[in-house]
Amino acid sequence: MTRTPQHRSGEPDPLRVLTLDRLKRRTSMKWRTYPEDVLPLWVAEMDVPLAEPVVRAVTDALRLGDTGYPAGTAYAEALAAFAAERWGWGGLAVERTAVVPDVMLGVVEMLKLVTGPGDPVVVNPPVYPPFYQFVEHLDRRVVEAPLGADLRIDTEVLEEAFRHAAGAGGRAAYLLCSPHNPTGTVHTATELATVAALAERYGVRVVADEIHAPLVTGGTPFVPYLSVPGAERGLALMSASKGWNLAGLKAALALAGPGAGADLARMPEEVGHGPSHLGVIAHTAALREGTAWLDALLAGLAGNRRLLTGLLAEHLPGVAHLPGEATYLAWLDCRALGLGDDPAETFLNRGRVALSSGIPFGTGGAGHVRLNLATSPEVLAEGVRRMAAALR
Ligand SMILES: Cc1ncc(COP(=O)(O)O)c(C=O)c1O
Repeated sequence: MTRTPQHRSGEPDPLRVLTLDRLKRRTSMKWRTYPEDVLPLWVAEMDVPLAEPVVRAVTDALRLGDTGYPAGTAYAEALAAFAAERWGWGGLAVERTAVVPDVMLGVVEMLKLVTGPGDPVVVNPPVYPPFYQFVEHLDRRVVEAPLGADLRIDTEVLEEAFRHAAGAGGRAAYLLCSPHNPTGTVHTATELATVAALAERYGVRVVADEIHAPLVTGGTPFVPYLSVPGAERGLALMSASKGWNLAGLKAALALAGPGAGADLARMPEEVGHGPSHLGVIAHTAALREGTAWLDALLAGLAGNRRLLTGLLAEHLPGVAHLPGEATYLAWLDCRALGLGDDPAETFLNRGRVALSSGIPFGTGGAGHVRLNLATSPEVLAEGVRRMAAALR
């Protein structure tokens, strides 16, 4: 990579900074799951250097030996300021937040607060596979309300699932993915208001996973679930983890609407022992000082999304793709290629490119793969070339 275009903020595009040789020295899941000759475009890690303010904050903490237990509300205050500036949402109440170890463990704790063993949890497949794994591990029951063909929430299907879940006895919850992984769908204010109204009508508690909220690259603005009228009893999880590539620096925030503060207050104090103090420091620095880096990233991701559309048209016209407006993930419908339920196997074995299999994403996942766009345009192009080569 010879050229590193700069965003108008003066930040280089983080997706074009690192060479493949350097990335291969990483020891995280993306780089160590498959043999060296496989190009990894699967798990949600980004091929970026960290934002400089994050590096500085964590390095300063290490130099100081500031590696004890987390304390205080700096993370929540940083998120409140970011939410006001970015999404025009001034309603994030720091006193109704709690630091949790990460988003999925936060989801588990929120579900423990509002449901009991055996109770139903509604999800919208195809959806992030751990939604199934964590819910089932918690002894709750997944109820599917599949997205429509337009990859948006189908409110009639959702209502039917709510009716079914609420009618089964016990306490029902809805695990909303907003923006949606794997499709990149950004739910509109109108859709979310409908969700809130249905949830209230059927007595279903909403837990919104908003980890991808900073990663909106299209025209539809992100709307925090708790900002929507009728969502007062909602719970949400937010984190800087996806936006700034901090999954290894564990921390996330649980947020409660005004009608859910008493629920959040019941969360046991020991849950707060899980997050890493360095994680909290990193996430706080990202939200406070990492917005120029984020903007440069989003510009790069938007470029990659356009590039992918062109590459697919040229090399893989049989793949159907409805580009999303958020996340750095692309959901590819490979059913017309005749590769069966799990095309990721063919792409891996014959093309030496690792994509996420669609099958664990639930109903609607078979015949699909998820591709991770958060890499350089060169690597993305090579990935698509390898996919095409697997078909020859
Ligand atoms: C929708 C969604 N939720 C949660 C996570 C995981 O977040 P964490 O590592 O904070 O548990 C991811 C990771 O990709 C995700 O896409």
